[in-house]
Amino acid sequence: MSLKNTNPSQTSSWKSLNSHFEKVKDLEMKEMFKNENRADDFTINWGDISLDFSKNRLNKTTLDLLLNLATQCDLKNSIEKQFNGDKINKTENRAVLHTAIRASADENIIVDNKNIIPSIIKSRQKIKTFTDDVISGKIKSHTNKIFKDVVNIGIGGSDLGPVMVVESLKYYRSRLKSHFVSNVDGDHVLEILKELNPETTLFIVVSKTFTTQETISNANTIKDWLEASLGEKSIKSHFAAVSTNTKEIEDFGINSEYVFSMNDWVGGRFSLWSSVGLSISLSIGSKNFENLLEGARKMDRHFKSSSFEKNIPVILALISIWYNNFFKCETEAVIPYSQYLSKLPAYLQQAVMESNGKNVDRNGENVSYQTGNVIWGNTGTNSQHAFFQLIHQGTKLIPCDFIGFKKPLFEQNTQHDKLMSNFFAQTEALMMGKNHKDVELELNKSTLNKDEINFLLPFKEFNGNKPTNTILIKKLTPESLGSLIAMYEHKIFVQGVIWNIFSYDQWGVELGKQLASKLLEEIEKKEPKTHDYSTNSLLKKYLKN
Ligand code: F6P
Repeated sequence: MSLKNTNPSQTSSWKSLNSHFEKVKDLEMKEMFKNENRADDFTINWGDISLDFSKNRLNKTTLDLLLNLATQCDLKNSIEKQFNGDKINKTENRAVLHTAIRASADENIIVDNKNIIPSIIKSRQKIKTFTDDVISGKIKSHTNKIFKDVVNIGIGGSDLGPVMVVESLKYYRSRLKSHFVSNVDGDHVLEILKELNPETTLFIVVSKTFTTQETISNANTIKDWLEASLGEKSIKSHFAAVSTNTKEIEDFGINSEYVFSMNDWVGGRFSLWSSVGLSISLSIGSKNFENLLEGARKMDRHFKSSSFEKNIPVILALISIWYNNFFKCETEAVIPYSQYLSKLPAYLQQAVMESNGKNVDRNGENVSYQTGNVIWGNTGTNSQHAFFQLIHQGTKLIPCDFIGFKKPLFEQNTQHDKLMSNFFAQTEALMMGKNHKDVELELNKSTLNKDEINFLLPFKEFNGNKPTNTILIKKLTPESLGSLIAMYEHKIFVQGVIWNIFSYDQWGVELGKQLASKLLEEIEKKEPKTHDYSTNSLLKKYLKN
């Protein structure tokens, strides 16, 4: 069954939210904190994760109205439909089952009259065996050496999830060193090959379709490079593939034992839990990979079974809708206070923006309200020294997610309190700001004269009242990372349901791809056809020696 079609802006709760917004839009959070229970009331503690959403410009009524909106948009049934394998990705006639690939062995999920769990467990076992055998050295290279380096060749969902998790869990690394080749920019692949020894490097081509220009070009470049030093026969020992396209894999010459299948009901950007995560498993070992899945599975259960007001992904999604559709915020920042999570914002950019960047609703009509947010961010404290100026004193309202960990990973890390004091200081500063009086008091203690103080005053004031969510996690582990990623996946789902859009297709990336392949032909033949004036003149410049 497909998702119900509800225009959110026509629901009574949306209309009530509109009038409620007029009443509360200027409320100061610090005033709302006169209610001493606010922090407790607006915190969800779940396992090793706590979400404090009290530093937001909303009150109990706002939350109740948002929760009503979720109910009126049929969220409960939609969640059931997704987990049950209903074909909710209607434009591609597919189920959406990234949750199934991390499900436990005793579950039953039926797609096209067949329980898919046994085949999922089988493919999980294959990932485990391959991982264990490469790490132990049982699987060897063409010249009988143990593999030392693993290169993931993929782009988009076949790159961003794996590279983000590998980077995030670097602390838990196996003896293998991971590399990622994604861009069709030949300099990217050549730069990476420069460091590698063909005799000890394993390549994994990850492409759901196995037709993606970037991935296939890089795979062919690498194939030539490998053949040049080890001969044609080496391909069978040095390449593995993850794809749904068995025919193309065979044509490429990959050993059928090193082929890992994928299913069409897992979208690229949600696929790191599947065999797309092979490079993750090799990088952190099969036990840690299983723990990553376990963390996601726990978050799935929380999402599926918790009431909406205690449901972390639901609350995050509703808060984000509040800012996006009522405050008209265009962007949202994600600031992890862990250098390990430096790739999380880039990963979320694809997950969020490819999913919810849609201007047509589930009726095929143009939406009359805003949908997908622009996601951006970087790690704290680095971002404090880069773009925080604008968040504190700029003209745009930018809701931020702050993600921090109670414990560092290295026992000898003596700087964690410094990192975390910045983490807490920023959300406090963003909310409290600094008023005229306080700035004046401070400046009066300096050696400046009255005129100098009066001049400086407005520049040193902070309006405050800037919203943040604080996601505090016990420790960065494969399991907690799994939960964190699944939390954002479910947030995306909830927003897509409420905005009445299809979150699991990505037609918007096709036009550019089609044009690029036409242009490539024209460039290669040096025969540019008629384009718009600007493109014509640029092509002329490019083709001129
Ligand atoms: O261009 C977008 C996209 O289709 C993504 O959705 C996907 O993750 C990426 O390309 C890579 O696709 P594939 O895994 O088929 O190579």
